[in-house]
Amino acid sequence: MVNYVTKKSNKLMPSKAMKKIAHLDNKRIYKEAAKNPIKFWEKLATDGLQWEKKWTKAYEQKLPYFKWFKGGKINFSKNCLDRHLENQPDKLALVWIPEPTKEKPVKLTYRQLHEKVCKFANVLRKNKIKKGDVISIYLPMVPEALIAMLACTRIGAIHSVVFSAFSSDALKARIQDGKAKILITADGYYRRGEKEDLLTKAKQAIKSTTVKKVIVVSRLKKKLPSPKSKFLDFNKELESAEPTCEPEIMNSEDPLFILYTSGTTGKPKGVIHDTGGYATQAYWTAKWNFNLRDDDVMWCTADVGWVTGHTYAFYGPLLNGATTLIYEGSPDFPDTGRWWKIIQDNKVTVFYTAPTAIRMLQKCDPKIIKKHNLKSLRILGTVGEPIDRDAWMWYFKKVGGSRCPVIDTWWQTETGGTLINALPGIGPFIPTVSGISFPGTKHIIVDEKGKQIKKPNVTGNLVQVPPLAPGMLHGVWKNPKKYKETYWKRFKKYYDTSDGAFLTKGGLIRITGRTDDVMKVAGHRMTTAELENAINDHPRINETAVVPVPHKVKGEVPVAFVILKGKKDATKINPEQLEKEVKKLTDQKIGPTSRPAKVFIVPALPKTRSGKIMRRILKALLIDEEPKGLSTLLNPKSVEEIKGIIKSSQ
Ligand code: WT7
Repeated sequence: MVNYVTKKSNKLMPSKAMKKIAHLDNKRIYKEAAKNPIKFWEKLATDGLQWEKKWTKAYEQKLPYFKWFKGGKINFSKNCLDRHLENQPDKLALVWIPEPTKEKPVKLTYRQLHEKVCKFANVLRKNKIKKGDVISIYLPMVPEALIAMLACTRIGAIHSVVFSAFSSDALKARIQDGKAKILITADGYYRRGEKEDLLTKAKQAIKSTTVKKVIVVSRLKKKLPSPKSKFLDFNKELESAEPTCEPEIMNSEDPLFILYTSGTTGKPKGVIHDTGGYATQAYWTAKWNFNLRDDDVMWCTADVGWVTGHTYAFYGPLLNGATTLIYEGSPDFPDTGRWWKIIQDNKVTVFYTAPTAIRMLQKCDPKIIKKHNLKSLRILGTVGEPIDRDAWMWYFKKVGGSRCPVIDTWWQTETGGTLINALPGIGPFIPTVSGISFPGTKHIIVDEKGKQIKKPNVTGNLVQVPPLAPGMLHGVWKNPKKYKETYWKRFKKYYDTSDGAFLTKGGLIRITGRTDDVMKVAGHRMTTAELENAINDHPRINETAVVPVPHKVKGEVPVAFVILKGKKDATKINPEQLEKEVKKLTDQKIGPTSRPAKVFIVPALPKTRSGKIMRRILKALLIDEEPKGLSTLLNPKSVEEIKGIIKSSQ
């Protein structure tokens, strides 16, 4: 294995930041952290954040529950904004690039952002929002998303951001689960040159929910729906509000936000993140992974609908007082050089994206990237799914000019911040290998019985060893049973990541992918069950099995096998028409990111005697491998039939 730590990248980490913490050189920091992780995180929390009151107990655990910085008091927005007003009020906090090239970027200094956040927090207070209330945010990548989220954290309201490409049904389910009182949305946004409508979906979603008010960002200048008392204009309300807003002082363990993610069952779960622990991990992972300095312009391309958008497009850079850049639209609009042009024009120094995007841009005309000056870049990051060697090398060479380390960060919605990756200045940077646990955290690989696998190249289950990292989830919203079952049932003493991994000979962690029914489609997390439930709602479909299959750009894509209702129907149905209808249905129930790539009508699904669908066998058939374990099937004949159906469709 080649280690791509260049001499230059070795120098990237300003040891100052590290030394300040433990008076150690870069490598010894890991040792020191491992010796006493609680003390280590205490030091980081003290140095990185501004507390109103110091904690009485740094860490307490009664698994599966745990608390960080118990008794500590803090306000999150104050840490992102107010404390930077003293030293750098006029520094840019946010640069927003709209998709239409004729529109100008919006730039907000820390002072300006602070004022807007305070004003909007007052709007929320005026609308009777108080500490602990849930607010749903259904916004595209616009500055108002950041303003709204920070305003929630200022007054102790819990934000629940819903990805803007999700359907109204998906939004409704999330509003209902969180019992949100307010929905903050936009009238639409631009995507690939088209105007996307958001308001119609939002209006549909709030029917028979707890939402009393809808605050709408006028992105497309549409007329607001009536009644006026219910639909408010975001910026009009903001402008007329008071510019000062006393922050609500929160307990470290109070929830900061919930974010829904897919688990093994069909229903998404609301992952709960706390305030002090999350802030500590967001601050330090952003600082050390990306070597953040005062003059950095960080661009994390993730949408705010995902945790990466929360932690590294918004909160991590702001906690560090850096400038964050966000972009509204698509990487290929008006052409596939758009991202490179944004990096060039704004002198982006830290760039963080997903393997899917890298693979997509890698396929484009090499002349396009060459035309741009990407010399401002210092650090590159990747996240969301395993990155293949080819994409890694292209990213390292063509985007980073073989100068910048590629930080392959492994983490999850549940972990709040990154957990496994090499650090700039330390490395090692090896394609496809994420690296080692962040200082102060510990991950091991265990077999099905929970016994540690120390041998290299043996794949097992990746788990986290307590004390848990400070950014870890504290539960599933209103569903403690789910929390216990999903993360703590299999291995009891360890947090179960549901990822497979193995150790390299050098003791580094290589992630192999999910071990449950979760798929990563273009980096988006979804489950087979979610899609199956949606497809089963088709009036002519009796049963569905969804399987992910490898895809060159998207990593994997879902393929559906459906059994029709009633035998007679099968001959009458037009498969192409049905496929269209199925796609429409998943668009409507979940969103276009979950659209199956192909729908096969089959007479039966391979099942075990206990009735479990053998998706593994379906997958083998799709990728042209010999399926194993047919003897345990209730209906082995189905395998040959399906094989024939797949063949005849090719
Ligand atoms: C799942 C979590 C982490 C924020 C965005 C995704 C996969 C994530 C990597 C990586 C290999 C990765 C895992 C994980 N994953 N990062 N660097 N290498 N796999 O958060 O949507 O909650 O998904 O993404 O399978 O469990 P998420």
